Amino acid sequence: MDTKIFDVTKLNGDVLERAQICAERGAQTGMEDALRKIRSAADILRAGGLVAFPTETVYGLGCDAFNEAAVKKVYAAKGRPSDNPLIVHIARASDVGALTPRISPEFVRLADSFWPGPLTMILKKKAAVPDIVTGGLDTVAVRLPDHPAAVALIREAGCPVAAPSANVSGGPSPTKAEHVIADLSGKIDVILAGSDSRVGIESTVLDLTADTPTILRPGVLTADHIAEVLNGEVIYDAALLRSNHCVPGAERDGGADDGAAPRAPGMKYRHYAPKAEMLILEGEEEKVRAEIGRLRALNEKLGAEVGVILFDERAYREAAHDFYARLRKLDEEGVDLILAGALNGRDGIGFAVMNRMLKSAGYRVVHVS
Ligand code: TXA
Ligand code: MG
Repeated sequence: MDTKIFDVTKLNGDVLERAQICAERGAQTGMEDALRKIRSAADILRAGGLVAFPTETVYGLGCDAFNEAAVKKVYAAKGRPSDNPLIVHIARASDVGALTPRISPEFVRLADSFWPGPLTMILKKKAAVPDIVTGGLDTVAVRLPDHPAAVALIREAGCPVAAPSANVSGGPSPTKAEHVIADLSGKIDVILAGSDSRVGIESTVLDLTADTPTILRPGVLTADHIAEVLNGEVIYDAALLRSNHCVPGAERDGGADDGAAPRAPGMKYRHYAPKAEMLILEGEEEKVRAEIGRLRALNEKLGAEVGVILFDERAYREAAHDFYARLRKLDEEGVDLILAGALNGRDGIGFAVMNRMLKSAGYRVVHVS
């Protein structure tokens, strides 16, 4: 398949509204060409095609959420197991009515505070939402992304857009257009190439159907941010806490040993993994740096190419922004071994990045003392 690549880096602000105002005045926005491309991509989506698009978190691979054949093509293009449900993306909060029968006050408060933005909410699903989108669950994951190209695409398509991250299943998520081009060229209809993803890790997934709102996948929007808006308790999924070996917020009780399976189906798969072997070192910063230096020298002496990922101790947002791109870069350089310094998982954002780092390394962690 010949994949079209459309440059949409020029789009900004409320694209469609500005285009309309300018059209009425006979003025130019400077975005005409990019908008034409969005409209042509939206036509392709509506006709059952696959379109990758930038969002603020990572790039997504979208299709019409109500078109089962198109959804099947998304799973096939990614090589993704079909029991791992997709997030449905909408362009206005009010569009959620097509997906869920009940809108709760919690949903309204969170949408008002955090949408558009890196929050996915799990809601009861309407029967009209195909089972293939939700992996047979009776719930649906919904998000309104904070990106002009994404929002314009969904609005112009006129349908909710089911979209997983636009990478080959199992590998690092794409935060640059070139990542999507490398993974999906020849497998999908269109790639909307925008600038690099601002956040760099996927959205926080929050289950609003649980008794207590529960974070199933951590992101840069933390339990504290959400609890403040809800003015009530927000917990992390027990399996998530157990697998991260750490509880965000010193005062929280992990409750982590109930043997629960992760409730976001996607959390159980091998994920975000580079081609290289990867090892995480945790402990005091100085000691970790020294041990990484020692292991690096040792492995290089044995003829291995070694890559290192070390973030500044408290630069959590920068770590989120750069992590996947670093993994891909090291794979491109053909390193055999990646040595990564752990981040402080007691910080909510550090915890979210550590969640990705642990999965990438297949949970191989060495404690340096
Ligand atoms: O930031 C993001 O969320 C990106 C951009 C493209 O929006 N999307 C993304 O999608 O990360 P994906 O498919 O890579 O991850 C979706 C996650 C998976 O862990 C999946 O299991 C979970 O959301 N999920 C989806 N629907 C669910 C549901 N009904 N109940 C529980 N978990 C669900
Ligand atoms: Mg993904």
